[in-house]
Amino acid sequence: MDDRFPAGVLISGRGSNLGALIQATADPAYPARIAGVISNRADAAGLLLAKAASLPTAVISHRDFQAREMFEIALTDQLNRFGAKAVLLAGFMRVLTPRFIDSWAGRLVNIHPSLLPAFPGLDTHRRALEAGCRIHGCTVHFVVPEVDQGPIIAQAAVPVLDDDTPETLGARVLAEEHRLYPAVLAKLAAGVLEIRGQRVAERARER
Ligand code: GRF
Repeated sequence: MDDRFPAGVLISGRGSNLGALIQATADPAYPARIAGVISNRADAAGLLLAKAASLPTAVISHRDFQAREMFEIALTDQLNRFGAKAVLLAGFMRVLTPRFIDSWAGRLVNIHPSLLPAFPGLDTHRRALEAGCRIHGCTVHFVVPEVDQGPIIAQAAVPVLDDDTPETLGARVLAEEHRLYPAVLAKLAAGVLEIRGQRVAERARER
């Protein structure tokens, strides 16, 4: 039996972060496993990655629900059926309501392709180039109702090169995302993260 910490992953598309998490959890010594993957889009490429790794998957389309709340009740029901103890948003393109977020408080995290609080929202690599940033990167944070805010758990920075395009810069950031998200899930699984206001502290591991 796999008694590692069970995490649910929500996706909407490509799923490369999901792929990195799948790779990390393939190591039996890694402290978490993926309990299941939910996509709100049936055509999300990430679903194929999950299936190839024999992970439970579900498609729950927001279009099938009249109200956001009903969609989210379906998400929570499915996450509970998976036995998920935490939820990782990995390119999940729906805004979640405070009710859903509160019900997963301290157990719901997101990865964002910028060094927050700079560049919340979309198109972050182009905006970082336009702003003349010399460093850029990615952030994993606890989710709060305000989009792309919430206590920051970890960040990784990359240099911005003179000849960068949004694509080359984005690829450099994505490589860091793939390192950062599994590292954060390991900490979540170890139960060492403590939210103190807007800051996240790391407790010493219990022996
Ligand atoms: C990533 O850049 C992530 O930071 C953002 O959405 C993108 C998802 O990419 N939230 P993928 O689906 O994991 O490849």
